[in-house]
Amino acid sequence: METLQVKDKKFAVSIPEREILRQVKRVAEEINRDYAGREPLFLAVLNGSFIFAADLMREVRLAAQVSFVKLASYEGTSSTGAVSEVIGLNADVEGRDIVIVEDIIDSGLTMRHLTEMLAKRHPRSVEICSLLVKPENLKVDLDIRYRCFDIPNDFILGYGLDYDGYGRNTRDIYTVVE
Ligand code: IMP
Ligand code: MG
Repeated sequence: METLQVKDKKFAVSIPEREILRQVKRVAEEINRDYAGREPLFLAVLNGSFIFAADLMREVRLAAQVSFVKLASYEGTSSTGAVSEVIGLNADVEGRDIVIVEDIIDSGLTMRHLTEMLAKRHPRSVEICSLLVKPENLKVDLDIRYRCFDIPNDFILGYGLDYDGYGRNTRDIYTVVE
């Protein structure tokens, strides 16, 4: 088994590129169908979703727009997922159909904060599109309309996701191996 060393951790491929692209295409087709005749605004959450967003958008055949936001979390001892600010949300969201493009939903707290913040700007609709979901870890009731993969509660990287800033640039998704 081929492994990838990133800092102190060893990783092995868990989702090959071919399978990722197949699921991205499937989800894009669902979006093409659901939003037919509409002009959704895709809001990709940086940094992790940059590769997913790029692949997804190229399968979308709607009169769509894309914008990028970054979430500032409260720095602290525990990762509560509390989002203090949405950076770069200068797109006019009012009255728009918003599709949030996220890399991975773990506890779901980040997504809950983002959807609550968006709701204050009176969009027409907001749906979540996540590449990955760790269902066992979900702590809040989230309606995740579009997802490519449900995965176990193990740490992963690649295809945009990082370990301490590294590993975003692999084509496959890797899971930590001990
Ligand atoms: P949540 O608020 O717990 O849902 O946090 C989700 C965020 O945690 C994601 O946007 C990622 O930045 C990060 N994250 C969660 N699990 C992983 C993982 O396995 N690898 C890399 N980042 C992860
Ligand atoms: Mg993220």
